[in-house]
Amino acid sequence: MSPLSLENNDFQPAPKLSLKDINENVVDAKFAIRGSISIKAEDLQVQLNKNPHCLPFDEITVANIGNPQELNQKPLTFARQVVSILQYPELLNNRDVLTKEKIFNSDSFDRAERLLRDIGGSVGAYSASQGVYGIRKTAAEYITKRDGGEPSYPEDIFLTTGATSAASYLLSVLCRGPQTGVLIPIPQYPLYTATLALNKSTMIPYYLDEESAWSTNTTEIEKLVLDSIKKGIKPSVIVVINPGNPTGAVLSELAIAKIFQIAAKYGIVVLADEVYQENIFDGVQFHSTKKVLRGLQKQYPGKFDNIQLASMHSTSKGVFGECGQRGGYMELVGFTDEVRQLLLKLACLAVCSVVTGQAMVDLMLLPPKKGDASYELDKKERQEIFDAMYERARKLYAMFDKLDGIECQKPQGAMYLYPSLILSKKAIAKAESLNLTPDEFYCHELLDATGICTVPGSGFGQKKGTYHLRTTFLAPGIEWINKWEKFHKHFYEKYQD
Ligand SMILES: Cc1ncc(COP(=O)(O)O)c(C=O)c1O
Repeated sequence: MSPLSLENNDFQPAPKLSLKDINENVVDAKFAIRGSISIKAEDLQVQLNKNPHCLPFDEITVANIGNPQELNQKPLTFARQVVSILQYPELLNNRDVLTKEKIFNSDSFDRAERLLRDIGGSVGAYSASQGVYGIRKTAAEYITKRDGGEPSYPEDIFLTTGATSAASYLLSVLCRGPQTGVLIPIPQYPLYTATLALNKSTMIPYYLDEESAWSTNTTEIEKLVLDSIKKGIKPSVIVVINPGNPTGAVLSELAIAKIFQIAAKYGIVVLADEVYQENIFDGVQFHSTKKVLRGLQKQYPGKFDNIQLASMHSTSKGVFGECGQRGGYMELVGFTDEVRQLLLKLACLAVCSVVTGQAMVDLMLLPPKKGDASYELDKKERQEIFDAMYERARKLYAMFDKLDGIECQKPQGAMYLYPSLILSKKAIAKAESLNLTPDEFYCHELLDATGICTVPGSGFGQKKGTYHLRTTFLAPGIEWINKWEKFHKHFYEKYQD
């Protein structure tokens, strides 16, 4: 090929973009879950791959992210069979032989056929931007059943790319800039602070009360609302994460009702992140925000009719754990038509959420029924995953409970424990000398000694002068828990004042 000849080519090439040239909101957004500790863990993994015995441990224990299938959690057979058929519908032509050979169950074909009809023939085609109607119908039926018959409608359901995109749509529509205040629980899943930063709106942190199992203090929340109004910042949204991440706490019905009282009084939209609604442990009950709202509306006619509630769910958590499939939904209650149209506009801009992710929503919410060929296996698999998760939660909690220098609330739900680290002056001084926060220092030391990767509490927010870390209880086995115990005892002794 002959070289191109350009005229006037005696120019100086301009410099590349630097941080000062790009969207400062993106620069300001922080997401600690994939922060410096996890980056270091990835480096350590590379070192182990090159030389398996170069570190004091043989493997990295990924306890920093609620990503169950990264930690060997098996996908549910029924869901994966159906999605395989959706991806390769030719399998339908071999239904008889595949069921006879017990490679697929017959109800997997039935469900795949129904979904293909609802989807319009192929998961390779765009769907309606709000999501496939038949799948929204499944979601509405699930919600109606979950909420004891309180009706839900497919028209109010948006299928989304995980709960993340639901939160992002909602906050992009509701945040008008610095004069919009969004009440965020602290500690929180950092999606919320990061999305606020992207929308340059103002965070109004409300602190959860660790002493009373990380519950909400609505007197405190109302004070924050009034202070914010005084400063000219309109409190527009309150984010409620229930069960909580990172705390694992489950809100009582009364706590949710009190939040609605404030929301009704001050016209605040309630954004309920309920992605862990199926990760609920012994003796604890999950109350959906929608059900509590409907109860209040009946009990106090006219007082709660102004409530606008968006509640979200996801295929990433529960026992489903299909994080990579990016399925989720949000249900909108009480929004005006014009606001709903704006949310729809955003969904249209994204064209549609991943269609197999939408199918996953159907499969998560509508498991095989008694009498279906997959019923027994599906029930067994769901129970085994749930029991194993709870067992590990209990073991980890028991370990923290007996140690000095660490305090932890009992696991109630979600996939995390969020213990408080009682660090000595010596440990804090050492952290400062290394230019780390004290909880970062502990997490680095834990990683260096054991390969266990966690997230320091500073990534979620915490009361000044307190230090925490978040760990998942997803990693298999208990060897890592024993290693942690040994590490902690050593750390505690080494840094005792
Ligand atoms: C509280 C909470 N909300 C939302 C998400 C995001 O979930 P998804 O995978 O559905 O986007 C997570 C993920 O860990 C989470 O913990």
